[in-house]
Amino acid sequence: MEKILVLDFGGQYDLLIARRVREQGVFAEIMPYNRITLDEIKKNGYKGIIFTGGPNSVYDGASPHFDAGILDIGVPVLGICYGHQLIAYMAGGVIKSAGNISEYGKTELYVRPCALFEEVPGESVCWMSHTDYVSGLPEGFCVTATTGSCPCAAMADEKRRIFGVQFHPEVTHTEYGKRILHNFLFGVCGCSGDWKMDDFIEKTAAKYREELKGKRVLCALSGGVDSSVAAVLMHRAVGDRLTCVFVDHGLLRKNEGDDVERVFRGKFNMKLIRVDAEERFLSHLAGVAEPERKRKIIGEQFIRVFEEQSRILGESDYLVQGTIYPDVVESGKGDASTIKSHHNVGGLPSVMDFEGIVEPLRELFKDEVREVGLKLGIPRELVMRQPFPGPGLAVRIIGEITKEKADTLRDADAIFREELESAGIRPSQYFAVLTDTKSVGVMGDARTYGYTVALRAVTTDDFMTADFARIPYEVLESASRRITNEVRSVNRVVYDITSKPPATVEWE
Ligand code: XMP
Repeated sequence: MEKILVLDFGGQYDLLIARRVREQGVFAEIMPYNRITLDEIKKNGYKGIIFTGGPNSVYDGASPHFDAGILDIGVPVLGICYGHQLIAYMAGGVIKSAGNISEYGKTELYVRPCALFEEVPGESVCWMSHTDYVSGLPEGFCVTATTGSCPCAAMADEKRRIFGVQFHPEVTHTEYGKRILHNFLFGVCGCSGDWKMDDFIEKTAAKYREELKGKRVLCALSGGVDSSVAAVLMHRAVGDRLTCVFVDHGLLRKNEGDDVERVFRGKFNMKLIRVDAEERFLSHLAGVAEPERKRKIIGEQFIRVFEEQSRILGESDYLVQGTIYPDVVESGKGDASTIKSHHNVGGLPSVMDFEGIVEPLRELFKDEVREVGLKLGIPRELVMRQPFPGPGLAVRIIGEITKEKADTLRDADAIFREELESAGIRPSQYFAVLTDTKSVGVMGDARTYGYTVALRAVTTDDFMTADFARIPYEVLESASRRITNEVRSVNRVVYDITSKPPATVEWE
């Protein structure tokens, strides 16, 4: 498989660069600059290398650098932003700081003929974000683009197939960014674009079929997208030697446990053990109101249940985890000492004895995981579902958790989701919260004293920040009417209009 190396110098767009390359049918691998050597790069047979941006200045003592020999191995290189300046620096050019003046945002770009700018018009718009600029060209390079204030917005040494762009071709604000990346991948590197999801499924299944011959494989299934897709893919590879354990902690959404069972046992005919552990979890949670304590108890009990089940099942050789690419990249960033190992099922491998961990999705982005899920025949509702926290409804029931409260919340939450979905509204995440507040109401001629349900719906790209969703009043009204009519013990509904920050998405 042809591969492009995205050499990461700490830029904020490294994942986006890899994503843009993959969109064109070429596999991209991100590596932090300090985790790969020049020799490894040579051995890996990359078709091309992209240097990412980064927050530093090339002359700073602490700024990330790489072995300048990378420019002489004959593999095409494209440097973006800091990567462009780094190439100039490595090749003997001069970089200057524009002082307090930064070029930021949409900027007119003037390009000259060059392999990188095939079919890019002489004038177009690009996205800039820099203070430093290349002021003295290295030998063998020529300027291939300028802007009003940047004398070297792009440079090239076409003979050595080394290119640098000060602007960001990976962001959509750069009008011809896609074309520029296309030119690099296909025109310069000679890629053929053989990265396709169907191939991924077949190749991955074949690989594990071979590697795990005769081995027994265990998978903790949460019903979430990643573990579901990993499980079905591994089922394709090892068939009945895969056993999935699905722990129902009694804090799932309405019908969720049955849905998971229907899909995996019914549709895919997989070996699935559903552990009904509602009583166990609720009894450990009884009387606990503190949010972090609740999370800890659930995490611990989850591991205990999983351990018990695997003991009953007898030995398994491998454990499947639904780790995806952003998890891998996050874990690998920074210095070795700060690496945290990422486990989807907190801590399982450290307490259990497996020959190894299998992570079939570790090269994929979330939307690619979804595409694989759909191609594998997993129902769309499951593949496209909104995120749901591991501790489940426990972080949406404020104060002590009881079965009655969990049932009340399940009903209110199902109604809210139904109302939004039937109105065709799909925010990034939307759910109901059972507050610990009771208030006075009136129904018929009688006074009531019931729970207050809060509705939460947010829009976000990354869940680090979020805004509350602007839901039409009519939709909120019908959700409120149905919840107070259909869910006993609820007599008041409020809508949460707080963004994150200062609030968080979940209430606990
Ligand atoms: P917050 O509440 O931190 O949530 O703004 C951001 C995103 O993370 C999810 N979330 C969790 N997911 N275990 C999880 O697996 C947790 O303990 C947890 N807490 C929050 C939340 O649903 C949202 O998508």
